[in-house]
Amino acid sequence: MPFFERRIGFEYKGDIDLVTEADRASEELIVSRIRAEWPHHDIVGEEGTRDIHGGDFRWYVDPLDGTTNFAHGYPVFCVSMGLELDGNLILGVVYDPTRDELFAAEKGSGATLNAKPIHVSSTTTLAESILGTGFPSFKRHKNPNIHFYHQITLRSHGIRRAGSAALDLANVASGRFDGYWEFNLNPWDTAAGVLLVQEAGGTVTRFDGSPFDIDSKETLASNSLIHEEVLQNFREIFAGRGLEQLPPVIRK
Ligand code: IPD
Ligand code: CA
Ligand code: CA
Repeated sequence: MPFFERRIGFEYKGDIDLVTEADRASEELIVSRIRAEWPHHDIVGEEGTRDIHGGDFRWYVDPLDGTTNFAHGYPVFCVSMGLELDGNLILGVVYDPTRDELFAAEKGSGATLNAKPIHVSSTTTLAESILGTGFPSFKRHKNPNIHFYHQITLRSHGIRRAGSAALDLANVASGRFDGYWEFNLNPWDTAAGVLLVQEAGGTVTRFDGSPFDIDSKETLASNSLIHEEVLQNFREIFAGRGLEQLPPVIRK
């Protein structure tokens, strides 16, 4: 938060992929604490940590999820950490320092927000749902998501594009969103949030309904109740059926 309040500058990692001193300081702190406590655990961190020595445990660390927001002073960002044991997610935490909200999940023990149990929403139709999505900066010209954004907007209460995938997933887990999807996320974006959704009673799959895995480039999360309907809509959109056309932009 002190970095955020000082409005520190940013650098470019890629085309429009931003990074700040806060991303690096956060990763350094988290990784040093994990190494001190559990020297044999593997660690994969977005800002370059690759401690991989074939251990049973593997951490996925996103030291600052929502860097573009952070760099522009928009207060939507978090820290996200997921832990795998033998390739299965067993623990996830997402911390939002702007609201002092800590989302946590342990495999088989449910999910909590500031230590109180949370559950996904009870909305049963897409038409009555609010959903989140996002647009990664990497290869943005190749991302077809704007078509999905348009079509699903017209079939629901609306879509939010807040800029932090881990918080979007935490919002599904806590019932603030009924669903969320995104193309091309990385393991550190999804590891914690996916377990949060599952432990809160939700479902996470790829866009064809097949099981999600950490290297999936497709993430579709929901409260379980609307999952089949969203999948059906995705099938239609991928096939180009029943699409609403975008209105013309040229003013006469
Ligand atoms: C990004 C955010 C954003 C999502 C991007 C991610 P970063 O993570 O989660 O919401 O749309 O795909 O890369 O770069 O801020 O850690
Ligand atoms: Ca991220
Ligand atoms: Ca990040």
